[in-house]
Amino acid sequence: MKFPYFYQQMLGFLSVIIMLLTISVFSIVLFARNTAIKGTENMLFAYAESIVDVNLSSDQLSNFQSLLGNQGVTFFVFDNDGHLIFPDLPDNIETRVVPDEEDRLKSGERVSLTTEQADLYGNPRETAYVYLPYFNKSTSNYSGFVAVSAPVSQIERQMSELKRNLFNAFLISTVIAIIMSFVFARYQVKRVNRLRQAAHMVAEGDYDVRLKHRDRDEIDNLSQDFNKMIQALDMSRQEVARQEDRRKTFMQDAAHEMRTPLTTINGLLEGLEYDVIPESQRLRSIKLMRKETKRLIRLVNENLDYENIRSNRIMLNKHALPLTEIFEEIQEQMKSLAESSNNTLQLSVEEPITVFADYDRFKQILVNLIKNAIQFTNSGLITVTGIKTDQGTQIRIQDNGIGMTEDQLKNIWDRYYKADISRTNTKFGESGLGLSIVQQLVALHEASISVDSTPEKGTIFTIDFPDPDKN
Ligand SMILES: Nc1ncnc2c1ncn2[C@@H]1O[C@H](COP(=O)(O)OP(=O)(O)OP(=O)(O)O)[C@@H](O)[C@H]1O
Ligand SMILES: [Mg+2]
Repeated sequence: MKFPYFYQQMLGFLSVIIMLLTISVFSIVLFARNTAIKGTENMLFAYAESIVDVNLSSDQLSNFQSLLGNQGVTFFVFDNDGHLIFPDLPDNIETRVVPDEEDRLKSGERVSLTTEQADLYGNPRETAYVYLPYFNKSTSNYSGFVAVSAPVSQIERQMSELKRNLFNAFLISTVIAIIMSFVFARYQVKRVNRLRQAAHMVAEGDYDVRLKHRDRDEIDNLSQDFNKMIQALDMSRQEVARQEDRRKTFMQDAAHEMRTPLTTINGLLEGLEYDVIPESQRLRSIKLMRKETKRLIRLVNENLDYENIRSNRIMLNKHALPLTEIFEEIQEQMKSLAESSNNTLQLSVEEPITVFADYDRFKQILVNLIKNAIQFTNSGLITVTGIKTDQGTQIRIQDNGIGMTEDQLKNIWDRYYKADISRTNTKFGESGLGLSIVQQLVALHEASISVDSTPEKGTIFTIDFPDPDKN
């Protein structure tokens, strides 16, 4: 069953207000009734006391009777035996019996307002009474009592007037309550609708919606949380888009990188199949195919390595490594490569120092950077130095090769980036993965790497490895 929020709110407000009003009206009526009864009682007692005060002389009593009769008040005076002594009534009128409370009267107590269904003459109408005992002035003996009565209709008249007024007030209040409830309910529903609208916009893909709020109540808190949620949602959406972009570029780049060697191998295989490659060239073709296959394997391995490093799947085994020994090993390993491009490679440390790193990964970093230096330098000098700094150990790899422009420098850390596309497929492979792997490995070592390069002058890579003792 549909029951809109607006009506729920209206119903809620109205039921509370009307209930409060009803309780108030009942309390007021009860209170007013009690007050009216008390007032009548006091009035009747005052009359009774005046009657006793005039010593019950017949003349005076007659005066009183005509005076009070005008106001609908009657009074009877009884003696100590309970016989009527005033007024003189014709025999056919029977006065009402004395009240049960005679004993209380005899002991001097006054009897407060009681209501009976008949008046003192026995006529059937609702009547209010008070009874006041009187005593002999000299002996102080009980001498009888005065009964004063007034028709209840007097009180009822006052009450019905009060009820009429209250009913009018109740009606006016109810109308105001309905208007107020309507205004409040509309206000609340409007706020909820704003939230609903915003949620709808987000569902439609608009992540820029933000709700205004003033930190007053739960709906404001909800709006605040809603804004936070949209922000988080937007961020994760952007992250997903970024990941998707990365995945696409990776697939495109990887396919692109593999296509060249695969095309070469395919062409050569075709040549062999149709016997178009002369006998003398066959061995060369097979060697070329092997080279390309190796390149493919290297590409796959490097990609795997990169992904492993990126997803933290490799563990570093860090130690204080003696730099001199490592430099000697690398010098030995890279000598022939440097010589093949007429480069001179110098690795040196002024004093025996250590670097806090993983042996294999440290060498991988240096070999990658030295290979690059050799690759992009012709008949030049490549120097690798190591020094101690305040934080740890600093390694510099410097060449006087072709260098890079500022634009090129911005991209060198990206996977598959090569500053000069025409230089691909040299004898060193060049898949454009070297520096991105270096960057990941440096980060794993909590080290930092920077590059400084001038076109046609050369390039300097600087890596700072932190020392755990100094940090
Ligand atoms: N010492 C350098 N001098 C000049 N350019 C450099 C130097 N080092 C790197 N670069 C530029 O940065 C690019 C990216 O280097 P990176 O090592 O990542 O890839 P690559 O050497 O081309 O291929 P890979 O290392 O995977 O075989 C290089 O293609 C080159 O243009
Ligand atoms: Mg490289």
